[in-house]
Amino acid sequence: MTRINVGVIGAGWVGGIRANACAINPLVDELHIAEIDNARAEAIGAETGAARVTADWKVIAASPQIDAVIVASTPESQRFPIVRAALEAGKHVLVEKPVAPTPEETDEAIALCDVGDLKLAVGYTRRFDPKYAFINKAIKAGEIGEPVTCLVSRNITREIGAKIKGRSRMSPAAMGGTHSIDFLLWCLQPRLPVKVYSQQSGKLFSRVSNTPDHQWIMVTMDDGTTITAGSGWVLPLGYPQYSQSWIEIVGTNGALTVDDTHREIRLNTAADGIRYPLSSMPGEPVDHVFAGAMVDETNHFVSAVAFNRPVLATAREARLVMDVTMAADLSAITGEPVDLILDT
Ligand SMILES: NC(=O)c1ccc[n+]([C@@H]2O[C@H](COP(=O)([O-])OP(=O)(O)OC[C@H]3O[C@@H](n4cnc5c(N)ncnc54)[C@H](O)[C@@H]3O)[C@@H](O)[C@H]2O)c1
Repeated sequence: MTRINVGVIGAGWVGGIRANACAINPLVDELHIAEIDNARAEAIGAETGAARVTADWKVIAASPQIDAVIVASTPESQRFPIVRAALEAGKHVLVEKPVAPTPEETDEAIALCDVGDLKLAVGYTRRFDPKYAFINKAIKAGEIGEPVTCLVSRNITREIGAKIKGRSRMSPAAMGGTHSIDFLLWCLQPRLPVKVYSQQSGKLFSRVSNTPDHQWIMVTMDDGTTITAGSGWVLPLGYPQYSQSWIEIVGTNGALTVDDTHREIRLNTAADGIRYPLSSMPGEPVDHVFAGAMVDETNHFVSAVAFNRPVLATAREARLVMDVTMAADLSAITGEPVDLILDT
């Protein structure tokens, strides 16, 4: 069996899930971790039995014995030097979205992959959720005929919103909306986006920062299909890291309605009232199993590297998503639709 050595850079919430997934993946021989928070580094090292835990990501990016690197550090704006160094050192990379803060840097990463024949996967975890995979399969198989319009409305609790707005000025489109845009562009391939309109609203976070609370994005595809993706981060506090989504896909011969609001389990306690477990975006461990898509996504990346298979969510696709979310942010400022001129 081909086994690989994996480095995880940034082992917080998401990096911790990915490190734990690698630790029990039989295709992974050694796990190496870079984490600058000493207490977290110690805890994740003990949890995963990592071969090495360091505070210096450069050691991981440069290490000749490491085949693949997962980059999950924050803030997002400071991650590109890590991605570039890992690619320049010949490592395959899985990076949380966005690949880089700018399109130019994203293109640089793609060029490095092309030169080095490397994989650059992007953490679009929704693609690995069976409900979302089903929608993609049904649309591509023509089960609802030609798609006419697609809606994804996603909201998360203000707990995560506060965490995100504290570390970056990225918009709801770039942070949460990017997952929905990636998902819908994937479902609608080979159609391409041609026009984007967006509006933001801010009544809560905007009192203390210039972060909006919610953003709607409307996209027209080149065959006339419309997309509407909403992303907000001010739901009241609920189950830790609660997220909820509604999905409606309407086609010429049918419709798909998917409830992703996580109401299937209700836990009601005297201390905390009603809560909805297993409702975070990446998922969460439950004793010996993992409920959610992030472990499957991590395992997919490990297999792709070990067996030299393609990755599902590529940096080129993420670059297209970035074109859409940047156009959305521009449209939200100007109040005008933005035409996309793509050189694909
Ligand atoms: N795919 C999904 O479903 C999903 C869900 C949530 C978050 N995310 C994304 O995952 C990323 C990580 O989010 P998070 O919530 O885990 O963040 P987090 O803040 O919990 O974790 C980031 C970790 O990186 C560490 N770090 C920062 N700089 C570092 C450096 N230079 N070297 C090593 N470690 C460093 C921090 O100490 C922290 O432990 C974000 O980009 C976020 O948008 C993805």
